[in-house]
Amino acid sequence: MGNLFFAANIAPENRTSPITMSKKKTQYICQSCGHAHPKWQGRCDGCGEWNTLVEEIIETPKNRFASTVSAVPVSLSKADKTAVERIPTGFGEFDRVLGGGIVPGSVVLLSGEPGIGKSTMLLQVAIRLANAGKKILFVTGEESVGQIKLRADRLGPSGGEDSIFLLAETCSEAAVAEAGDYDAIVVDSIQAMASADLQGAAGNVSQVRQSAAIFIELAKRSHIPVFLVGHVTKSGAIAGPKVLEHAVDVVLTLEGDSQSELRLLRSTKNRFGATGEIGVFSMGENGFSEVENPSAAFLGHHDAPVPGSTVFAGIEGNRPLFVEIQALASPAAYGTPQRVAQGLDPRRLIMLAAILERRGGLPLSRQDLFINVVGGVNLTERSADLAVVLSIVGSFRDKPISDDIAVFGEIGLTGELRRAPRTPPRVKEAARLGFSKVIIPEAGEKLPKIKDLEIIRAKDIFSAFKTAFRD
Ligand code: TYD
Ligand code: MG
Repeated sequence: MGNLFFAANIAPENRTSPITMSKKKTQYICQSCGHAHPKWQGRCDGCGEWNTLVEEIIETPKNRFASTVSAVPVSLSKADKTAVERIPTGFGEFDRVLGGGIVPGSVVLLSGEPGIGKSTMLLQVAIRLANAGKKILFVTGEESVGQIKLRADRLGPSGGEDSIFLLAETCSEAAVAEAGDYDAIVVDSIQAMASADLQGAAGNVSQVRQSAAIFIELAKRSHIPVFLVGHVTKSGAIAGPKVLEHAVDVVLTLEGDSQSELRLLRSTKNRFGATGEIGVFSMGENGFSEVENPSAAFLGHHDAPVPGSTVFAGIEGNRPLFVEIQALASPAAYGTPQRVAQGLDPRRLIMLAAILERRGGLPLSRQDLFINVVGGVNLTERSADLAVVLSIVGSFRDKPISDDIAVFGEIGLTGELRRAPRTPPRVKEAARLGFSKVIIPEAGEKLPKIKDLEIIRAKDIFSAFKTAFRD
């Protein structure tokens, strides 16, 4: 069994690790009640739940503390913050999302659906770091060294090739043993790595957690920044990134529609910077490039206004992000009508449809409703509500709204428009992008006049409909 982990090109004499490679004792812990079992079984003896047992290493207090340097309390005024001096990658959008560069000793998880571009992005980051004189270890558990070479060739010559070292390895301890004198490590992916101490196959919850713990320990002990790639499925439920989020310092997600070249990099957790910060990239023939006009990148282009499409003046992180929200209302064939939302919380759609039905008098109960946020962006803001309902109404009535209008505003249960956070930057951006009207909630701060932009304040959905559809 153990040999399986050493399939790669490591000479036997190099296979020892500072973290002992001898088999550690394990037990099976119920993830629901914590009851320990010496062997795996389907049902927990403690709480009776099925399939909740996960293999874990039994840590004696001695070996748990062995690796931590004994710490001494230090006053806040004397606390040393040198640890947060950052290493810029030179990839502006990437640095921005990290909060200004890589923090030494930090562990960054890059998650996203398979094929979205995680390996490409981290290879490009590695190349840029190498060009800046850093020595990078790229541990690949999924692809061969040859495949990575091919990808690097696609990205074009860089000059830093001698400073990037590829290691095809799936044993976490063996990878850490190699990591000694590098400036940064990339592990692609954490689901492909397995600890020699656990029996289960790579990718199961205990293996993912244990391997992550091993790399996190390396980062903290030696101040080497570590990038972990983690796959998620559409539901995000698969064993992997979800179980790691609390353990790592930074969680970045790469999202986008795989049919389009645009990708959004978002920090959903950042111990060293703002969360929710976004970077916009375009995936081309030669890998990722930064997008010039990110706030408008996700806007659709239509020759003429179309019914069921509205521009939402959004803000993600610190940056305005204007996106097109499309809706389709179509008569339901039978039974309960469908409510399908892409890029938006489906529960929000159900609520907005109910408001339109009860307050707006729109007979939607026999209509299927589909919402799509163009470009594969996942919207987090409630201020998208107004754009969603305008699109639904537009599709239902088959009436377009003018394409020089951008809107935002959260809708309350009585149909009122609620005050939105950060109104001034949205309005300013609307003017910069050439919109001639914005429909915004009535409640909110006073705004300065902006040339060529009509700011229309709406109290509720009715007054918003009136202005948008001019009826
Ligand atoms: P990849 O980084 O392998 O995705 P992940 O690691 O998230 O699974 O990239 C996947 C896609 O990107 C693949 O379909 C090919 C495409 N691609 C480009 O379009 N341009 C490029 O320069 C490269 C290297 C890949
Ligand atoms: Mg990959």
